[in-house]
Amino acid sequence: MSNSLNRRKFLQAGAVATIGGFLSPTLQAKNLEKASSDVGKSKWDLDSPALCVDLDKMEQNIKVVHNRLKGTSVKVRPHVKTHKCPAIAKMQVAAGAVGVCAAKLSESEIMLENGIQHVLMTGVNVTIPKIKKAMALRKKYSGFIQAVDNPQNAQDLQDAAKAAGIIADVVVDIDVIQRSGVLPGAPALALAQMVDKFPNLKFRGILAYDGIATHVVGFKARKEWALKSFEPVVETYNKMKAAGLNLEIFSGGSTGTYDMMQDIAGFTDVQVGSYVFMDRQYMEIGGEKNEKVFDDFAPSLTVLATIINMNHPGRIITDSGAKAFTLNQPPAIVIGEPDFVYNAGSDEYGTISFDKANKTYKIGDKLEMIVPHCDPIVNEYDFMYGTRNDKVESILQISARGKGQ
Ligand SMILES: Cc1ncc(COP(=O)(O)O)c(C=O)c1O
Repeated sequence: MSNSLNRRKFLQAGAVATIGGFLSPTLQAKNLEKASSDVGKSKWDLDSPALCVDLDKMEQNIKVVHNRLKGTSVKVRPHVKTHKCPAIAKMQVAAGAVGVCAAKLSESEIMLENGIQHVLMTGVNVTIPKIKKAMALRKKYSGFIQAVDNPQNAQDLQDAAKAAGIIADVVVDIDVIQRSGVLPGAPALALAQMVDKFPNLKFRGILAYDGIATHVVGFKARKEWALKSFEPVVETYNKMKAAGLNLEIFSGGSTGTYDMMQDIAGFTDVQVGSYVFMDRQYMEIGGEKNEKVFDDFAPSLTVLATIINMNHPGRIITDSGAKAFTLNQPPAIVIGEPDFVYNAGSDEYGTISFDKANKTYKIGDKLEMIVPHCDPIVNEYDFMYGTRNDKVESILQISARGKGQ
């Protein structure tokens, strides 16, 4: 028993060393090299599961937000948690974004290292290694801003910034959905004043994210919800303003509320994420013009799967299950087959049930699906195939894939 444990420990140690030091980067490089030989091919000739992004649709989605907000005081600060891809972040910045948001420190690092100059990390850093790393990042990259949502953490950031010999840029995250953030009102004001007084922190403003409002079905109901749930944040903003605090950043909003935040005085930028790709979850919230489908943005992200078994009537098995789609609901939409119901419940297999099909299918045929929820799916792949008119134009590396720390 103890031998087998020792052996297991030994093997684990070896495996960790192999993955960390050598094997994984090489594999990723090989995958990318192989993928680059697919440039120029029809996307229907790609092996599967393949994550594809329609470049025309994605470029259009990026334009839509800027066009809609033109003439308002609200800017765009896209959240890269959705795509984890520096090449797409660069496209967003080129379109006029004031910078990007990142969820995690390792994600922020990838963006900064790849030439994105302004990164606002919306999550907090609480552990000592992360705080130290955050300060090292800020020392190297002046455009890195981090969030704080409690006094002890503010003190820890101050101590770490002092030890690193820097003044670190900080925003206070305000709680909207009981997930992260300091409580609005007096606690938020006190925290902002605390940060503002620390010699090694620079208070830049506030952020507040409403992850519930963004998925409320129906434009009118969503807008009412978004503005109502923001009232405590607005009151807090006004108190901070009256106290003379610097509020150059008042950031929040998301894909479902991107065109609602301009009604909030002082609001500076929307942290839209999913809008670049869209997914079924967002399509179902309904839009201002189209109540049934939220179609301000086109679904640009799809997964290609191959049919591998058709033994049973009304049932098609594909090679793309939970590891290609995740278990998020509602299920993927099979493009061109409204009667197909996709179940990605098996790790490696997708099961389609249907009564009617628009075509006759055979083993080896490809199907293309709109994804249930874009962010976690992207994290399953090393790269996306960038396609235009169904032809592979580029390989987009998901460099921050797996960067969860
Ligand atoms: C803090 C924060 N801001 C912005 C977003 C982007 O949201 P969406 O993808 O809905 O646009 C998220 C997504 O979870 C988030 O957590």
